[in-house]
Amino acid sequence: MKVLVVGGGGREHALVHKLSQSPKVEKIYCAPGNAGISYLAECVDIKVGDIEKFKEFVIKNNIDLTVVGPEMPLVQGIVDEFERKGLKIFGPNKKAASIEGSKYFAKQFLSKYNIPTGRFKAFDKYQEALKFLKETWYPVVIKADGLAQGKGVFIVKDFIEAKEVLDLVMKKRIFGTSGDIIVVEEMLFGKEASVFAFVDGKNILPMVTAMDYKKIYEKDEGPNTGGMGSIAPNPCIDKETLDEIIENILKPVVKALQKEGIVYKGVLYTGLMLTKEGPKVVEFNARFGDPETQVVLPLLKTDLVEIIEATLEGKVDKVQIEWEDKKAVCAVIASSGYPGEYKTGFEIKGLENIKEAFVYHAGTTLKEGKIVTSGGRVLGITATGNSYEEAREKVYREIQKINFEGMYYRKDIGIVSQV
Ligand SMILES: Nc1ncnc2c1ncn2[C@@H]1O[C@H](COP(=O)(O)OP(=O)(O)O)[C@@H](O)[C@H]1O
Ligand SMILES: [Mg+2]
Repeated sequence: MKVLVVGGGGREHALVHKLSQSPKVEKIYCAPGNAGISYLAECVDIKVGDIEKFKEFVIKNNIDLTVVGPEMPLVQGIVDEFERKGLKIFGPNKKAASIEGSKYFAKQFLSKYNIPTGRFKAFDKYQEALKFLKETWYPVVIKADGLAQGKGVFIVKDFIEAKEVLDLVMKKRIFGTSGDIIVVEEMLFGKEASVFAFVDGKNILPMVTAMDYKKIYEKDEGPNTGGMGSIAPNPCIDKETLDEIIENILKPVVKALQKEGIVYKGVLYTGLMLTKEGPKVVEFNARFGDPETQVVLPLLKTDLVEIIEATLEGKVDKVQIEWEDKKAVCAVIASSGYPGEYKTGFEIKGLENIKEAFVYHAGTTLKEGKIVTSGGRVLGITATGNSYEEAREKVYREIQKINFEGMYYRKDIGIVSQV
C-alpha cells in the first residue's frame, strides 16, 4: 500500500521509519518531510495546514492511508474532510481533536464526568478574569484556550504576574483567537508523566510509557522547549500506577467520549501529574508526542500498519501488541539560541558515521546535496539498550561524531537516578 505522512519533524521521521518496516507498505510520501525523511519517503511540498492540497494529492496518487503527525490539521478538521471523500486517514476528527484544540473544552469534559483533574475556572471577559485573579490564592496556572505551539501556559505566583499574563493574552492578544478564552487552573504538584494509547472509538490499547525532558538546560532548568529528550519506558510509572491511570482515567475518558457522541479514533496522549491524591489529568493531545515518539516507536515490535488498521476498524482490542524488552533514550540536538532566536543553514557533518543509534531528523533540509539545519530542534539521537545507562552511553558516544555550528544538547538525558 501507499502511505502519506503529514508533518516534517522528528515525530514524523519516527513514524515514517516505523511504517517503512511494515511488509504492507510499498511506498511512503511525507509532506513536507525533511532531509532525513527523504531517505525513506518521497517528500512532497505541501504545507501542513493545506487540507485541500492534501486531498487532491491523495486522490491523484491513489494513496491508501494518510497518517497525521501534528495537531493543527487535526484540529482544523483534516480527518472530517478526508472521511467525507471516503479517504482512509488515521487521527481523530475535528470534534474529537478539540480535546487538545480547546483546553476549556477538555476541562469541562473532565469535570462533567468526574475524571481526576485540577480545579479550574474559564473566562472570556478580561474584567471578570481580572476580578477572579485578584481574589484567588496563588500559585495558579493560566492557559490560553486554543493551540499556542506549547507557549500558551503560564505558572504565576502572584496577582502582578497574573495581570501581566492576562494583558498579554486578552489585551495584546499574543495568541490571537487562541486567547479568546483563558483557563485558570489550580496548580498541581508531583511528577509529570504522559501515557499514549491507541483509541478506536471504544477500546484503548496503551503504549509503552515515556518521559520527556521539557527544559532547555540540564537538571530541568531554564525555559520550556518543545522537548530536549525522552526516555522509554517512563521510570516513574510502575505497573500499579499505570493500572490506576488506565482504570481511573483512560477507560472513563473513552466512555465519556462515547457518551458525548464523539468517535475518537487515533492516538490519545494524556498528560498527567502524579499527585499525592493519585494521577490527575493536566491535558490531552490528539496525536503522538514529540520527542516521545522517537523512543516509543523504536520499541514497538508489532506492525504499526496493522495497529492503525485495527484502530480504524474499531478492533484495537484484538491486537496482540508486542514491545521490545529494552530501554530507549533520545537526546535532541538543537540550534544555539533555541528556544529563543537561532540561526539556520549550517551544514551538519558526520551523520554517515553513526552506527549504534538512529538519527531522527527534525529541523533539517537538503541544500545543494548537503544536509543543513533549518529549525530550532535539529536532530534526535535514539539508541536502545538493556538498561537506560547502556542506551544513554550509545547516544552520547554517537553524538560526538556529529557536528554543526552552534549545536547544543543536554548531557543528562537518561540519567534515571536524577528523575
Ligand atoms: N495545573 C497545572 N499544575 C501544574 N503544572 C501545570 C499545570 N498545567 C500545566 N502545567 C505545566 O505546564 C506544562 C504545559 O501545560 P499543558 O497543559 O501541557 O499545555 P501545552 O502542552 O499545550 O503547552 C505542563 O507540562 C506542566 O509542566
Ligand atoms: Mg503539554
